Amino acid sequence: METMNGKVAMVTGAAAGIGLACAEGFAKAGATVILVDINEPKEQAEKLNSEGYKAVSYRCDVSDTQAVKTMIDWIVTTYGRLDAAHNNAGIQTPQRPMAEITDEEFDRTVAVDLKGVWNCMRYEILQMLKQGGGAIVNTSSQGGVTGFPGQAAYIACKHAVIGLTRTAAIDYAAKGIRINAICPGVIRTPMAEELMRRNPDLEKELVRDIPAGRLGKPEEIANAVLWLCSEQASFVDGHALLVDGAFSIH
Ligand SMILES: NC(=O)c1ccc[n+]([C@@H]2O[C@H](COP(=O)([O-])OP(=O)(O)OC[C@H]3O[C@@H](n4cnc5c(N)ncnc54)[C@H](O)[C@@H]3O)[C@@H](O)[C@H]2O)c1
Repeated sequence: METMNGKVAMVTGAAAGIGLACAEGFAKAGATVILVDINEPKEQAEKLNSEGYKAVSYRCDVSDTQAVKTMIDWIVTTYGRLDAAHNNAGIQTPQRPMAEITDEEFDRTVAVDLKGVWNCMRYEILQMLKQGGGAIVNTSSQGGVTGFPGQAAYIACKHAVIGLTRTAAIDYAAKGIRINAICPGVIRTPMAEELMRRNPDLEKELVRDIPAGRLGKPEEIANAVLWLCSEQASFVDGHALLVDGAFSIH
């Protein structure tokens, strides 16, 4: 992997799971990384600093448009630029059939999983236009290209994230801003553990359907996100990259 020395990267949902692995990946590649989460990832950033990397934590609810604008302004005032952004924060809806999902559950899922990506991209793009380029990766899901029982609101958002990614990629391709989506399969994170806790047979059922025969690791998503943000992916734009052990083509 090429170095990201001198680059400034931000990751949302960086307190745990995929976001934390991606933040660690950016830091280890040499970037200064801003770990953003609704639960401020102070200890996670401090741990990276104690290992000699450059990291800072920032508390932000990505569904809050004004808070996201303030955060991007702070990043630019503090570090001068924003080279790479991974818009990854997400929540699950309680698992039940579509008609039983409440308006409140639907609205909160859309607010975080779709509007949160929208909010972040908007202000990231405005900054990247000023500085002449950058790379953005949005976290969708294998559920962005398939259905999943009992997850209608979540799956609708993950499909929408791909649509948003593709359209924004076209809008800004000529301005040097590349925008891609990552579509993780089932990755062993606190979110997936919670789903499996609620349904103890789920892990066995999922693994049976994953041709790779196992769940993915957060680092395996981080490797793909870092590549998408690197110069090695300089002509990859508007792509939705499945990293799922062949689950969705099975
Ligand atoms: N784990 C999987 O199997 C899997 C599969 C496909 C897609 N994804 C997606 O990957 C992303 C990360 O998932 P994960 O499994 O690491 O989840 P996780 O629950 O382990 O981590 C998500 C992080 O997002 C933060 N967050 C939640 N709401 C927020 C908000 N409003 N503002 C800022 N931060 C907020 C949480 O505090 C948490 O730290 C999500 O978008 C999820 O939908 C996960």
